[in-house]
Amino acid sequence: MKATRNRSHEARPRPERDARPEQEREPQHQPKRQLVRREGPLPAERLPLILEVAPSDDYALLDSGDGRKLEQYGPYRIVRPEGQAIWRPALPDREWGRADAIFTGNTDEEGMGRWQFPRNPLGETWPMKHDGIDYLGRFTSFRHVGVFPEQGSHWDHMAALIENARRPVKVLNLFGYTGLASLVAARAGAEVTHVDASKKAIGWARENQEVARLTNKPIRWIVEDAMKFAEREERRGSRYDIILFDPPAYGRGPKGEVWQLFEHLPALADICRSILTPKPLAVVLTAYSIRASFFAIHALMRDTFAGMGGAVESGELIIREKSAGRALSTSLFSRWVAR
Ligand SMILES: C[S@@+](CC[C@H](N)C(=O)[O-])C[C@H]1O[C@@H](n2cnc3c(N)ncnc32)[C@H](O)[C@@H]1O
Repeated sequence: MKATRNRSHEARPRPERDARPEQEREPQHQPKRQLVRREGPLPAERLPLILEVAPSDDYALLDSGDGRKLEQYGPYRIVRPEGQAIWRPALPDREWGRADAIFTGNTDEEGMGRWQFPRNPLGETWPMKHDGIDYLGRFTSFRHVGVFPEQGSHWDHMAALIENARRPVKVLNLFGYTGLASLVAARAGAEVTHVDASKKAIGWARENQEVARLTNKPIRWIVEDAMKFAEREERRGSRYDIILFDPPAYGRGPKGEVWQLFEHLPALADICRSILTPKPLAVVLTAYSIRASFFAIHALMRDTFAGMGGAVESGELIIREKSAGRALSTSLFSRWVAR
Protein backbone atom coordinates (compact mmCIF):
# COMPACT_ATOMS: atom_id res chain seq x y z
CA MET A 1 0.00 0.00 0.00
CA LYS A 2 1.22 3.50 -0.77
CA ALA A 3 2.08 5.75 2.17
CA THR A 4 0.16 9.02 2.36
CA ARG A 5 2.40 12.06 2.19
CA ASN A 6 1.70 14.71 4.74
CA ARG A 7 1.15 17.93 2.84
CA SER A 8 -0.64 19.87 5.54
CA HIS A 9 2.67 21.30 6.68
CA GLU A 10 3.16 23.25 3.44
CA ALA A 11 -0.38 24.63 3.70
CA ARG A 12 0.18 26.12 7.16
CA PRO A 13 -0.12 29.94 7.18
CA ARG A 14 3.16 31.71 7.79
CA PRO A 15 3.44 33.40 11.19
CA GLU A 16 3.69 37.18 11.08
CA ARG A 17 7.21 38.57 11.35
CA ASP A 18 8.15 39.96 14.75
CA ALA A 19 9.84 43.32 14.18
CA ARG A 20 11.17 43.63 17.76
CA PRO A 21 14.88 43.04 18.49
CA GLU A 22 15.59 39.39 19.27
CA GLN A 23 16.20 39.91 23.01
CA GLU A 24 12.74 41.43 23.46
CA ARG A 25 10.81 38.69 21.75
CA GLU A 26 8.82 35.97 23.52
CA PRO A 27 10.44 32.52 23.34
CA GLN A 28 9.24 31.00 20.11
CA HIS A 29 7.09 27.92 20.39
CA GLN A 30 7.44 25.33 17.71
CA PRO A 31 4.60 25.51 15.19
CA LYS A 32 2.29 22.52 15.29
CA ARG A 33 2.64 20.08 12.41
CA GLN A 34 -0.65 18.45 11.50
CA LEU A 35 0.16 14.78 11.83
CA VAL A 36 -1.69 12.14 9.90
CA ARG A 37 -1.28 8.45 10.51
CA ARG A 38 1.16 6.98 7.98
CA GLU A 39 -0.35 4.18 5.96
CA GLY A 40 1.15 0.85 4.94
CA PRO A 41 2.38 -2.23 6.76
CA LEU A 42 4.36 -1.57 9.91
CA PRO A 43 8.09 -2.28 9.70
CA ALA A 44 9.26 -5.57 11.23
CA GLU A 45 10.28 -5.21 14.86
CA ARG A 46 13.24 -6.33 16.90
CA LEU A 47 13.10 -5.71 20.62
CA PRO A 48 14.38 -5.55 23.20
CA LEU A 49 17.78 -4.85 21.74
CA ILE A 50 20.38 -4.02 24.36
CA LEU A 51 23.44 -2.36 22.82
CA GLU A 52 26.44 -2.58 25.05
CA VAL A 53 29.71 -0.69 25.33
CA ALA A 54 32.46 -2.81 26.91
CA PRO A 55 35.52 -1.42 28.72
CA SER A 56 38.33 -0.42 26.34
CA ASP A 57 41.63 1.50 26.47
CA ASP A 58 39.79 4.67 25.36
CA TYR A 59 36.97 4.52 27.87
CA ALA A 60 35.90 2.26 30.75
CA LEU A 61 33.23 2.32 33.43
CA LEU A 62 35.58 1.12 36.17
CA ASP A 63 33.06 0.79 38.99
CA SER A 64 29.78 2.19 40.27
CA GLY A 65 27.74 2.28 43.45
CA ASP A 66 26.42 4.49 46.23
CA GLY A 67 24.96 6.91 43.66
CA ARG A 68 28.25 7.50 41.84
CA LYS A 69 30.26 6.13 38.93
CA LEU A 70 34.03 5.88 38.46
CA GLU A 71 35.09 6.13 34.81
CA GLN A 72 38.37 6.14 32.92
CA TYR A 73 38.39 8.68 30.09
CA GLY A 74 41.76 8.26 28.38
CA PRO A 75 44.35 9.37 30.92
CA TYR A 76 41.89 10.52 33.62
CA ARG A 77 39.80 8.83 36.28
CA ILE A 78 36.57 10.72 36.77
CA VAL A 79 33.87 10.42 39.47
CA ARG A 80 30.36 11.66 38.69
CA PRO A 81 26.93 11.27 40.29
CA GLU A 82 24.89 8.33 38.97
CA GLY A 83 21.38 8.05 40.35
CA GLN A 84 20.87 4.51 39.10
CA ALA A 85 23.87 3.06 40.93
CA ILE A 86 21.84 2.01 43.96
CA TRP A 87 24.16 -0.92 44.69
CA ARG A 88 27.46 -0.97 46.58
CA PRO A 89 30.76 -0.20 44.82
CA ALA A 90 32.81 -3.30 44.04
CA LEU A 91 36.23 -1.61 44.14
CA PRO A 92 37.85 -0.54 47.42
CA ASP A 93 37.93 3.13 48.52
CA ARG A 94 41.59 3.49 47.55
CA GLU A 95 40.66 2.93 43.87
CA TRP A 96 37.99 5.66 44.06
CA GLY A 97 40.53 7.82 45.95
CA ARG A 98 42.78 7.84 42.86
CA ALA A 99 40.28 9.98 40.90
CA ASP A 100 41.70 12.92 38.92
CA ALA A 101 38.38 14.79 38.73
CA ILE A 102 35.18 14.72 40.77
CA PHE A 103 31.89 16.38 39.93
CA THR A 104 30.47 17.37 43.27
CA GLY A 105 26.86 18.10 42.50
CA ASN A 106 24.27 19.81 40.37
CA THR A 107 24.89 23.38 39.39
CA ASP A 108 23.35 26.02 37.22
CA GLU A 109 26.72 27.67 36.69
CA GLU A 110 28.13 27.92 33.20
CA GLY A 111 31.62 26.62 32.51
CA MET A 112 33.54 24.25 34.74
CA GLY A 113 30.72 24.00 37.29
CA ARG A 114 31.56 22.15 40.44
CA TRP A 115 34.50 20.07 39.27
CA GLN A 116 37.23 19.31 41.80
CA PHE A 117 40.69 18.06 40.89
CA PRO A 118 42.08 16.28 43.97
CA ARG A 119 45.47 15.29 42.50
CA ASN A 120 46.58 18.07 40.12
CA PRO A 121 44.74 21.09 38.73
CA LEU A 122 43.53 20.15 35.24
CA GLY A 123 42.72 22.21 32.18
CA GLU A 124 39.31 22.28 30.55
CA THR A 125 40.20 19.70 27.87
CA TRP A 126 42.31 16.60 27.48
CA PRO A 127 43.16 14.20 24.61
CA MET A 128 40.76 11.33 23.99
CA LYS A 129 40.32 8.72 21.26
CA HIS A 130 37.39 6.80 19.88
CA ASP A 131 38.27 3.92 17.57
CA GLY A 132 41.35 5.78 16.32
CA ILE A 133 39.63 9.19 16.07
CA ASP A 134 41.33 11.81 18.25
CA TYR A 135 39.09 14.32 20.01
CA LEU A 136 38.96 16.33 23.23
CA GLY A 137 37.41 15.30 26.51
CA ARG A 138 36.06 18.38 28.25
CA PHE A 139 34.96 19.30 31.76
CA THR A 140 31.67 21.11 31.22
CA SER A 141 28.89 22.32 33.42
CA PHE A 142 26.06 19.89 34.16
CA ARG A 143 28.57 17.09 34.82
CA HIS A 144 29.09 16.22 31.12
CA VAL A 145 32.53 15.48 29.66
CA GLY A 146 32.02 16.22 25.96
CA VAL A 147 31.17 12.67 24.92
CA PHE A 148 28.51 10.05 25.58
CA PRO A 149 30.54 6.83 25.24
CA GLU A 150 27.45 4.59 25.05
CA GLN A 151 26.70 6.21 21.68
CA GLY A 152 29.65 4.18 20.35
CA SER A 153 27.21 1.33 19.60
CA HIS A 154 25.25 3.58 17.22
CA TRP A 155 28.43 4.99 15.69
CA ASP A 156 29.78 1.52 14.80
CA HIS A 157 26.43 0.52 13.29
CA MET A 158 26.25 3.74 11.26
CA ALA A 159 29.85 3.48 10.03
CA ALA A 160 29.18 -0.07 8.79
CA LEU A 161 26.05 1.11 6.92
CA ILE A 162 28.01 3.92 5.25
CA GLU A 163 30.94 1.73 4.26
CA ASN A 164 28.76 -1.12 2.99
CA ALA A 165 26.55 1.20 0.93
CA ARG A 166 29.36 1.65 -1.66
CA ARG A 167 27.76 4.87 -2.89
CA PRO A 168 27.69 8.49 -1.67
CA VAL A 169 25.82 8.67 1.62
CA LYS A 170 24.39 11.82 3.21
CA VAL A 171 24.07 11.93 7.00
CA LEU A 172 22.07 14.44 9.06
CA ASN A 173 23.06 14.66 12.73
CA LEU A 174 20.45 16.67 14.68
CA PHE A 175 21.25 17.79 18.26
CA GLY A 176 24.82 16.81 17.34
CA TYR A 177 26.65 18.21 20.44
CA THR A 178 30.47 17.88 20.21
CA GLY A 179 30.35 16.08 16.89
CA LEU A 180 31.68 12.59 17.54
CA ALA A 181 28.93 10.95 15.48
CA SER A 182 29.60 13.43 12.66
CA LEU A 183 33.32 12.65 12.70
CA VAL A 184 32.69 8.89 12.66
CA ALA A 185 30.28 9.31 9.73
CA ALA A 186 32.67 11.56 7.81
CA ARG A 187 35.60 9.21 8.33
CA ALA A 188 33.44 6.34 7.02
CA GLY A 189 32.95 8.35 3.82
CA ALA A 190 29.66 10.22 4.32
CA GLU A 191 28.81 13.82 3.57
CA VAL A 192 27.60 15.15 6.91
CA THR A 193 25.28 17.95 8.06
CA HIS A 194 25.59 18.58 11.79
CA VAL A 195 23.02 20.77 13.56
CA ASP A 196 23.06 22.05 17.12
CA ALA A 197 21.43 25.04 18.83
CA SER A 198 24.54 25.87 20.84
CA LYS A 199 27.24 28.00 19.26
CA LYS A 200 29.59 26.77 21.95
CA ALA A 201 28.90 23.09 21.15
CA ILE A 202 29.47 23.79 17.43
CA GLY A 203 32.78 25.44 18.35
CA TRP A 204 33.80 22.35 20.32
CA ALA A 205 32.72 20.09 17.44
CA ARG A 206 34.82 22.09 14.95
CA GLU A 207 37.76 21.88 17.33
CA ASN A 208 37.27 18.11 17.48
CA GLN A 209 37.31 17.97 13.68
CA GLU A 210 40.73 19.65 13.74
CA VAL A 211 42.07 17.46 16.53
CA ALA A 212 40.84 14.41 14.59
CA ARG A 213 42.67 15.68 11.48
CA LEU A 214 39.43 15.31 9.50
CA THR A 215 39.17 18.90 8.27
CA ASN A 216 39.36 17.64 4.67
CA LYS A 217 36.09 15.73 5.18
CA PRO A 218 32.78 17.28 4.13
CA ILE A 219 30.97 18.34 7.31
CA ARG A 220 28.57 21.33 7.40
CA TRP A 221 28.37 22.75 10.93
CA ILE A 222 25.08 24.56 11.51
CA VAL A 223 23.90 26.55 14.54
CA GLU A 224 20.13 26.22 14.30
CA ASP A 225 17.04 24.89 15.97
CA ALA A 226 16.80 21.22 14.97
CA MET A 227 13.09 21.32 14.17
CA LYS A 228 13.35 24.53 12.15
CA PHE A 229 16.28 23.17 10.20
CA ALA A 230 14.49 19.89 9.43
CA GLU A 231 11.36 21.77 8.33
CA ARG A 232 13.43 23.94 6.03
CA GLU A 233 15.15 20.92 4.52
CA GLU A 234 11.71 19.44 3.84
CA ARG A 235 10.61 22.62 2.05
CA ARG A 236 13.87 22.82 0.09
CA GLY A 237 13.72 19.16 -0.93
CA SER A 238 17.07 18.30 0.70
CA ARG A 239 17.32 14.59 1.41
CA TYR A 240 19.44 12.32 3.64
CA ASP A 241 20.26 8.60 3.73
CA ILE A 242 20.89 8.42 7.47
CA ILE A 243 19.44 10.68 10.17
CA LEU A 244 20.56 10.67 13.78
CA PHE A 245 18.60 12.55 16.37
CA ASP A 246 19.44 12.64 20.02
CA PRO A 247 17.13 15.28 21.46
CA PRO A 248 17.20 16.41 25.07
CA ALA A 249 14.01 16.22 27.12
CA TYR A 250 13.91 20.02 26.99
CA GLY A 251 16.02 22.44 24.99
CA ARG A 252 16.13 25.82 23.33
CA GLY A 253 17.01 26.80 19.81
CA PRO A 254 19.36 29.76 19.22
CA LYS A 255 16.40 32.15 18.90
CA GLY A 256 14.66 30.85 21.99
CA GLU A 257 12.65 28.20 20.14
CA VAL A 258 11.34 25.73 22.71
CA TRP A 259 11.99 22.02 22.28
CA GLN A 260 9.83 19.73 24.47
CA LEU A 261 10.45 16.10 23.68
CA PHE A 262 6.98 14.78 24.49
CA GLU A 263 5.31 17.58 22.57
CA HIS A 264 7.58 17.80 19.52
CA LEU A 265 9.10 14.35 18.97
CA PRO A 266 6.24 12.94 16.84
CA ALA A 267 6.46 15.89 14.45
CA LEU A 268 10.25 15.76 14.20
CA ALA A 269 10.19 11.98 13.59
CA ASP A 270 7.62 12.55 10.85
CA ILE A 271 9.73 15.26 9.20
CA CYS A 272 12.77 12.96 9.40
CA ARG A 273 10.82 10.37 7.45
CA SER A 274 9.90 12.86 4.78
CA ILE A 275 13.46 14.10 4.27
CA LEU A 276 14.87 10.66 3.49
CA THR A 277 16.31 9.81 0.07
CA PRO A 278 14.50 7.20 -2.04
CA LYS A 279 17.03 4.61 -0.82
CA PRO A 280 17.51 5.49 2.83
CA LEU A 281 19.63 3.48 5.23
CA ALA A 282 18.57 4.31 8.80
CA VAL A 283 17.00 6.78 11.22
CA VAL A 284 18.37 6.56 14.75
CA LEU A 285 16.65 8.13 17.76
CA THR A 286 18.13 8.19 21.26
CA ALA A 287 16.40 9.61 24.31
CA TYR A 288 17.99 10.38 27.66
CA SER A 289 16.36 11.18 30.99
CA ILE A 290 12.74 10.77 30.03
CA ARG A 291 9.93 9.14 31.92
CA ALA A 292 9.08 6.60 29.26
CA SER A 293 9.89 3.07 28.22
CA PHE A 294 11.60 2.19 24.96
CA PHE A 295 8.24 0.67 24.00
CA ALA A 296 6.91 4.23 23.70
CA ILE A 297 9.52 5.46 21.22
CA HIS A 298 9.37 2.05 19.49
CA ALA A 299 5.65 2.47 18.84
CA LEU A 300 6.19 6.02 17.60
CA MET A 301 8.98 4.99 15.22
CA ARG A 302 7.05 1.98 13.88
CA ASP A 303 3.99 4.09 13.18
CA THR A 304 6.13 6.84 11.64
CA PHE A 305 7.91 4.43 9.30
CA ALA A 306 4.78 2.49 8.27
CA GLY A 307 4.94 1.58 4.60
CA MET A 308 8.73 1.96 4.42
CA GLY A 309 9.61 -1.76 4.92
CA GLY A 310 12.72 -2.50 6.96
CA ALA A 311 12.60 -2.94 10.70
CA VAL A 312 12.43 -0.90 13.87
CA GLU A 313 14.81 -2.03 16.59
CA SER A 314 14.51 -0.58 20.06
CA GLY A 315 15.99 -0.98 23.48
CA GLU A 316 18.61 0.57 25.71
CA LEU A 317 22.19 1.73 25.38
CA ILE A 318 24.11 0.31 28.30
CA ILE A 319 27.68 0.45 29.57
CA ARG A 320 29.18 -2.71 31.04
CA GLU A 321 31.06 -2.07 34.25
CA LYS A 322 34.62 -3.41 34.47
CA SER A 323 34.71 -4.21 38.20
CA ALA A 324 31.66 -6.41 38.72
CA GLY A 325 30.13 -6.64 35.23
CA ARG A 326 26.94 -4.80 36.13
CA ALA A 327 25.05 -3.04 33.34
CA LEU A 328 24.52 0.70 33.65
CA SER A 329 21.61 1.84 31.52
CA THR A 330 22.18 5.26 29.98
CA SER A 331 19.36 5.88 27.51
CA LEU A 332 16.57 4.50 25.36
CA PHE A 333 16.82 4.19 21.63
CA SER A 334 14.71 3.25 18.66
CA ARG A 335 16.03 3.03 15.13
CA TRP A 336 14.49 2.29 11.79
CA VAL A 337 16.80 0.36 9.52
CA ALA A 338 16.10 -0.30 5.85
CA ARG A 339 17.23 -3.92 6.17
C1 LIG B 1 22.19 15.04 24.55
S1 LIG B 1 23.13 16.23 23.69
C2 LIG B 1 23.50 15.27 22.25
C3 LIG B 1 24.62 14.26 22.44
C4 LIG B 1 25.32 13.79 21.16
N1 LIG B 1 24.36 13.31 20.18
C5 LIG B 1 26.37 12.73 21.39
O1 LIG B 1 26.12 11.55 21.20
O2 LIG B 1 27.48 13.08 21.84
C6 LIG B 1 21.89 17.42 23.28
C7 LIG B 1 22.33 18.55 22.34
O3 LIG B 1 21.14 19.15 21.86
C8 LIG B 1 21.36 20.54 21.68
N2 LIG B 1 20.04 21.20 21.63
C9 LIG B 1 19.18 21.47 22.62
N3 LIG B 1 18.04 22.04 22.14
C10 LIG B 1 18.19 22.13 20.80
C11 LIG B 1 17.37 22.61 19.73
N4 LIG B 1 16.17 23.14 19.96
N5 LIG B 1 17.84 22.50 18.46
C12 LIG B 1 19.06 21.98 18.22
N6 LIG B 1 19.89 21.50 19.18
C13 LIG B 1 19.47 21.58 20.46
C14 LIG B 1 22.24 20.92 22.84
O4 LIG B 1 22.96 22.11 22.55
C15 LIG B 1 23.14 19.68 22.98
O5 LIG B 1 24.34 19.87 22.29
